Amino acid sequence: MTLQSLTIRRPDDWHVHLRDGDMLRAVAPYTARQFARAIVMPNLSPPVTSVAAASAYRTRIAAAAGRNSETRFTPLMTCYLTDAADPDELARGHAEGVWVAAKLYPANATTNSAHGVTDLAAIRPTLERMQAIGMPLLIHGEVTDPDIDIFDREAVFIDRILGGLVRDFPALKIVLEHITTKEAAEFVTDAPATVAATITPQHLHLNRNALFAGGLRPHAYCLPVVKREAHRLAVRAAAVSGSPKFFLGTDSAPHAVDAKESACGCAGIFNAPHALESYATVFEAEGALDKFEGFASEHGPRFYGLPLNDGTVTLQRAETTVADRVAGLVPFHAGESLGWRFME
Ligand code: DOR
Ligand code: ZN
Repeated sequence: MTLQSLTIRRPDDWHVHLRDGDMLRAVAPYTARQFARAIVMPNLSPPVTSVAAASAYRTRIAAAAGRNSETRFTPLMTCYLTDAADPDELARGHAEGVWVAAKLYPANATTNSAHGVTDLAAIRPTLERMQAIGMPLLIHGEVTDPDIDIFDREAVFIDRILGGLVRDFPALKIVLEHITTKEAAEFVTDAPATVAATITPQHLHLNRNALFAGGLRPHAYCLPVVKREAHRLAVRAAAVSGSPKFFLGTDSAPHAVDAKESACGCAGIFNAPHALESYATVFEAEGALDKFEGFASEHGPRFYGLPLNDGTVTLQRAETTVADRVAGLVPFHAGESLGWRFME
């Protein structure tokens, strides 16, 4: 008999962009509806580099998210690392419970990353301190060298940068965010237990043909860009493997429709409205629904050293038709139908 409903411990989103202002108010309720907590990316303009800015942003997010049905949504804040990162400020924010982790964007790798790190040597003292206090480092793992083919930038980052980082900082917790390649899945699988990865719904569903299906498809464009089918299959296998190193991180990254449908469109996919339904279809197709709760609700908190959530959420086997627009934005799977429905 096929399963008619799926109840799991309330999950968390270990990587999301909630933006600020009107956009924050428009998108935060969707994340708060499905997830108890979320790791919120700091790539605002200007970036979130001080404890005061992170604390104020956290207050704005909590107000925008409102209450979800059982619990209050908890935003988990991150510090945006720059060449000028101050280990003392970082440690203070961590000790005060404002910052849960810090994010490394190689300068100019993606949206609002112009203030990112240009030289890892500049942040070595910061990484030493993070290692000492047990604060995780979250990495956008792509090199920015324009001579490197965009489809190779993640694999080259692993080769040139990540291997050395893991070796030099053996006790530093590292999350390779939104992995997209076979190389990343293998690297994380083979790495020590200090290294983990998040996986988005789009990198489980799409390969690079999606970018050009019948014409140019800006709503399939995110960074790291979706890859060949062999890579998608490797990332899917990692997600459903049951390994505690792989966990849910949507990378939901809303942009206004005119910023996506443009001669120079922004990278990012707004997947928050139906994130759990989207992931569940993948786990079902892989015959791995028994691994879904670990991926969505257990591996992340265990890696971060945080308690598992109380309460549950339920998905029912029923069609969800994804609207063409949600909150005025084009959501992931717009106009498609998914075989699971999130129950309020
Ligand atoms: O597609 C993406 N969008 N990838 C990122 O790394 C950043 C994000 C954004 O902020 O829009
Ligand atoms: Zn992101």
